[in-house]
Amino acid sequence: MVFAADTLAARWREAVSHVNAGRFAAAEQGLAALALSYAGNAEYFLVRGLAARGLGDPSKAAEYFREAARLAPDKADAWFNLGETLAGLGRDGEAIAALRQGVARFARPSMGWLLLAQVLERSGERDEALAELARLAEASQGEPEALKAVSIHANRWGDVTLAQRALARLQALKPGDPDAQALRHKITADQVPPWHFPMMHDAARNAAYDRAIRRAVRPGLRVLEIGTGAGLLALMAARAGAQVTTCEMVPAIAETATEIMRRNGMAERVRVIARASTELEIGADLERPAELLISEILSSDLVTENVAAAVADAQARLLQPGAPMIPRAVAAVGRLIGGEEIVRLMSVGTVEGFDLSPFNRFAPGAIAARFSDQSFDSLSGDLEMLRFDLALGSPPPREAMLDFTVTRAGTAAGVLQWVRLQLDEETVFENRPGERFTASAWKLMFYPLPAPRPVSVGESVRLRLSHSIGGLVLTAAV
Ligand SMILES: C[S@@+](CC[C@H](N)C(=O)[O-])C[C@H]1O[C@@H](n2cnc3c(N)ncnc32)[C@H](O)[C@@H]1O
Repeated sequence: MVFAADTLAARWREAVSHVNAGRFAAAEQGLAALALSYAGNAEYFLVRGLAARGLGDPSKAAEYFREAARLAPDKADAWFNLGETLAGLGRDGEAIAALRQGVARFARPSMGWLLLAQVLERSGERDEALAELARLAEASQGEPEALKAVSIHANRWGDVTLAQRALARLQALKPGDPDAQALRHKITADQVPPWHFPMMHDAARNAAYDRAIRRAVRPGLRVLEIGTGAGLLALMAARAGAQVTTCEMVPAIAETATEIMRRNGMAERVRVIARASTELEIGADLERPAELLISEILSSDLVTENVAAAVADAQARLLQPGAPMIPRAVAAVGRLIGGEEIVRLMSVGTVEGFDLSPFNRFAPGAIAARFSDQSFDSLSGDLEMLRFDLALGSPPPREAMLDFTVTRAGTAAGVLQWVRLQLDEETVFENRPGERFTASAWKLMFYPLPAPRPVSVGESVRLRLSHSIGGLVLTAAV
């Protein structure tokens, strides 16, 4: 259809106003009629793309946006819309290429830039994503919303320095902004997990470490600690007479630990280095290899803080050959448990006369428990499920078959697991539960069976254990 110029302009304005008002079907009808007259017009394809997207046809929208970008390559909106639409379709490689074109053509900060960073991150390109965020922060000095977005995303993706830099600019622009204050709290809290507090108050843990440290340390002994936190174990070693080098990979924690050393008159005896142990070097950080290693980088399931790799690295590079370590070995110990309350924690059946059992498909593979109210029945003896002989430097096999011998009949719900630390030849710490859950810095881990099942005395329940940095996994043995 061909229209007179004034009719054409009027129809175009009408189609644009339909798009702006969200009347996409009317817009598309009008735009289709204008196709011949606007065949070489980039703005036309951009608007038609918006209408197609509004009508729920992102593939068609992407075609229109691509045509708009082809006709006017300097049109940043065409590239951003194309990138956004492709990202929505999961075509991340094409989306990244389009968004990069948009960013290159756009002088002012834009949320398209943020989208580019998000798609890069989603594609596993975290460093690239952070580099784009840093560029966005540089270009957004006067843009509070962009700075806020940079700070949130940089924190989420682990670049605390960038998150704090963007936040500082945001606070300079908008002093007292409540979002900025909330963000400041979040950035701090995310760096320092709340379990530090119960951990420092775990008197049994602290006493066991102090005992082993006193037994190992003689005046002047050169000690290396991995992961100082507030510095408690380093302080214990210094109190026993050691010269301590410790490290902490979270800079804010390391800074605070340094202050704590000063406050306790131990700054001469303890040197805190704000880096991961794997980045320490003999010569630069430690004058000579250490004579004793102390560490407490143990998660409740033993594996998620990567203790074996960190200790093996320190042993290979930073310790004297044969130097002792505290702990020297650690184990995950477990037993089969059952009982109504435990079954109900992890599964659902009939409630108020309604069958909710399909919800069991969401039952977790493991939960960390610090409950004080639940009771349970122990149905087997204790079994050492996994052991790291840290001093030997040999990680346990990736997989093992576990046989729990039933000592009491009942309905088995799963395996309850705790940690056992061999701190030295005489000192063992474990958060072994009694018939109720016990409080400790370490939580108890519960791994449910695929379904609760009755067991009888003497029977062996065989489960397959595997582990990774993601945690321990218990599955039915086939
Ligand atoms: C469980 S806390 C223990 C703190 C203190 N040693 C104590 O026992 O009271 C472990 C600390 O080590 C840090 N960390 C973990 N792995 C590390 C590593 N490889 N190098 C340096 N710090 C590490 C964590 O950020 C955390 O602050």
